[in-house]
Formats: sequence, structure tokens, C-alpha cells
Amino acid sequence: MKRGSRLLFTGVAAIAGLVVVRRWAARRGPMPCPARLSWLLENPYTKRVMGSETLIERLDLSPGMKVLDVGCGPGRLTVPAARRVGRTGEVTALDIQPTMLERARQRVEEADLHNGRFIEAGAGEGALEANTYDRALLVTVLGEIPKREQALTEIFKALKPGGILSVTEMLPDPDYQPRATVERMAHAAGFVIDGYYGSWLAYTLNLARPANGAN
Ligand SMILES: C[S@@+](CC[C@H](N)C(=O)[O-])C[C@H]1O[C@@H](n2cnc3c(N)ncnc32)[C@H](O)[C@@H]1O
Repeated sequence: MKRGSRLLFTGVAAIAGLVVVRRWAARRGPMPCPARLSWLLENPYTKRVMGSETLIERLDLSPGMKVLDVGCGPGRLTVPAARRVGRTGEVTALDIQPTMLERARQRVEEADLHNGRFIEAGAGEGALEANTYDRALLVTVLGEIPKREQALTEIFKALKPGGILSVTEMLPDPDYQPRATVERMAHAAGFVIDGYYGSWLAYTLNLARPANGAN
């Protein structure tokens, strides 16, 4: 097969695969990524398009901040966030799966960090205190949450006024949420757009809780 035909074939196969996976995910409904597949989050592709340092840069952290990592998984972002906010700051990692949370806890301990808090709960189920966080992360999680609007409203309230929620979505995650969908739900929760990075393939949308907005 010539190089051009091979490229075309690969492209068509990739798109067809993506369509099949998305249809399967839509039929299956939202469900958490199994802990045994968490290694998929740290492959060279993921590192390139949404590596932890890149995502942490987009969060504009400073020492002393309080960060909420919703759907923390194995702690890929919890650790660098905890390092950035330092001893005077704190990172709260929340996940619905105890196995994921335990991995995140171990990783924070192994990094000799002592500013992590861990909450086993579903996003949107009322486990979060209001007006507490400067920043929140929601990285390849939103599509796994059954009550996404409720989760965004809870995060909105948990942020301090002026706080920022950073949402990252990446293809070919079967639960990928398009930017327009995230923006619509975020506006309904009260957020305003604060920044956009990347492309449709892998993007970060920063959403702000207005400094003088309603609760
Ligand atoms: C694809 S992993 C992403 C992990 C991490 N954010 C990262 O980027 O490395 C999705 C995580 O969200 C968690 N999750 C799924 N549904 C959730 C929910 N309703 N509430 C809280 N966490 C949830 C899963 O258990 C899983 O750890």
C-alpha cells in the first residue's frame, strides 16, 4: 500500500473506531473509569496533549492556595498541585472510587507532601464545603459523572468568589465532552469563561466564579 493510502486508511479506521466507542459510551451511560485502567492516563500521548505540568501551569497556582481535585484518580495532578501550593496551601482530592483515592493518597505520601486531604464521594453529592477553594480541577471526569449539572453547581459553590475551575477534555476518551456542552452547563451553574487552551482534540476550559456574583 502506498504511503498516502496507508495514511487515509489509518485516518478512516481511527474515526470509525472513535464513532463506535462514543456510541458504546452513550448507550452504556456515565460510569467511573475502572481503577485497573488508570495506567491509561499516563501514556506518552496523554503526557503530550495534557501532561500534568501543562495542566498545572494553566491553573495559575501560588503558594498558600486551596485546590480541589475532583475525580483525582491515581493522583496524577494532586501531587504537582500539592507541591505548587506548598506547606501553607492544601489540596483536597475527591473521588468516588476508594481504590483511586488510596493510590492518590500513597502518591502524595511518597512525594513527602503533607498538605493533602482525601474525600471519598461522588461529585454533586453534597460533600464539599462552600466558599473554600481558590482553584478546582476536573480533568477527563465530567462525562463520567451521572449528574453533571449538579456537580458543576456544587463546585461553583465550593469555590471562593473569584475562584477558577479548570476543565480538561481529551479525545479519544469515550466520555469526552465537547466544549459547547461544557460551556452550556457551566453558564447554567453561574460560571463565566476565563480562558481556553489547546484544540478540540484536547482542550482546557477555565471557568471563573465571578468575584461579585450571586451564590
Ligand atoms: C479518567 S479518570 C481521570 C483522573 C484524573 N483526573 C487524571 O486526569 O489523571 C476519572 C476519575 O473520575 C472519577 N469519577 C468518576 N465519576 C465520579 C463522580 N461521580 N464523582 C467523583 N469522581 C468520579 C473516577 O473514579 C476516576 O478516578
